[in-house]
Amino acid sequence: MYLGIDLGTSAVKTVLVDDAQRVIASESRPLATASPQPGYCEQDPAQWIDATFATLDALKASHAGALAAVEGIGLSGQMHGATLLDAGGKPLRPCILWNDGRAAAECRILERRWPALRVTTGNKAMPGFTAPKLLWIATHEPETFAATKLVLMPKAYLRLVLSGEAVEDVSDASGSLWLDAARRDWSDAALAATGLSRSHMPRLVEGCAPASTLRSELAQRWGMRRQPVIAGGAGDNPAGAVGIGAIRPGTAFVSLGTSGALLAPTSAIAANPDRAVHTFCHAVPGMWIQAGAILSAASCLAWAARLFGASEAELLAPLGSHPRAPSPVSFLPYLAGERTPHDDPFVRGMLDGLSHGTDRGAIVQAVLEGVAFALADCRDVLAEAGIAIAEADAIGGGSRSPFWLSVLANVLNVPVHRFAGGETGAAFGAARLGRLAVTGEAVAAVCTRPQRVETFEPDAKLVDAYAERLPAWRELYRPRH
Ligand code: XUL
Repeated sequence: MYLGIDLGTSAVKTVLVDDAQRVIASESRPLATASPQPGYCEQDPAQWIDATFATLDALKASHAGALAAVEGIGLSGQMHGATLLDAGGKPLRPCILWNDGRAAAECRILERRWPALRVTTGNKAMPGFTAPKLLWIATHEPETFAATKLVLMPKAYLRLVLSGEAVEDVSDASGSLWLDAARRDWSDAALAATGLSRSHMPRLVEGCAPASTLRSELAQRWGMRRQPVIAGGAGDNPAGAVGIGAIRPGTAFVSLGTSGALLAPTSAIAANPDRAVHTFCHAVPGMWIQAGAILSAASCLAWAARLFGASEAELLAPLGSHPRAPSPVSFLPYLAGERTPHDDPFVRGMLDGLSHGTDRGAIVQAVLEGVAFALADCRDVLAEAGIAIAEADAIGGGSRSPFWLSVLANVLNVPVHRFAGGETGAAFGAARLGRLAVTGEAVAAVCTRPQRVETFEPDAKLVDAYAERLPAWRELYRPRH
């Protein structure tokens, strides 16, 4: 029996997976974010711990027998967050999250100080990444910077609490700008450019390697017969990849979570940092992931639901299962700024083309299309790096909408596939990594492709209609900086 814990942005999800890879139970607890100033996004690490413990306490209440048999745990997590710890391992301030845009000036400083940044990390310095946040702290909260003894990304902090050990996996570490992506090791030059050294960093492991062991008192609390091994785990996107068996070249996928991404596993780095393509080590050895990442995807639909005072399901139902024509309205999904391709934390969203005749359905459709167009931008900058995408799987909460996947298939002009239970992807992928860490089985034997339940084929008429709209949609973007 294995556990996968996904420390997301809006919730912690924990799944219990049996030896036949069936999800036999899952629990989720919500998380809140705080925005102390426009463009800032923070979370109190204590929330992560409370939410994770609540999911496990609930599983103990409902599935005590299965929980007792857990041998391996995998962690997945929202990437890039800066959790700063003092000498006693206590958080010094709220974690600055992946979608926080405050460190734009620090990105320029970092690239000037360390000109090899793009070559070594495969990434561009963008405010969402961890290193610029530390430079911001050094300038704006120097006492906190001086007291910082350890910098952990969210799930590594969770591991510290669960096991007492500071260990990070290479996929999540790739989101820091401190990793030499080809060597899969910390870069001393990168750390020095931020005023840090290896002593501030956790030990590194591969995602499927054993990293630590659950504390005995916690194993007892949850009635486990032995102290489970905790695997390296992965950032949420690489963990999602493991969940759907996207571990080889040619297994590109789209993630429609709070954020969105178009991701392509590769057997060699194919970076395009100048166009804000992300380079991540994969959660399996010898592989990388090149990704276009957008900051708002399913969160755009959640925004529309709040705006209209309706549930997401109520917004989607009248649209039916596929579009008949593009909406007359256009939407820029930059509600939290954008990473790929613009790297612009200051830009904001936009609705264009409103008229007296515009109804709710036209706006909701435009929201879904705007996210799809943003993913078309990601496709194009991946293509510049030599990555062609012939088909894509879809994961994340947004993949439950057939209408949205049909829009995507037509905008990207590729078949888009949906799995059963795709929305629990990252936690499920984490559980697979937990299993690999315990059993040492071949990665390919465990990370199989789940059954696709539906394929959305592009329709030539709609493909043309969307291709015609894309240039005008792109024209709407005006840099604010
Ligand atoms: C990826 C990214 C997000 C977060 C939160 O670069 O910033 O996907 O991991 O989901």
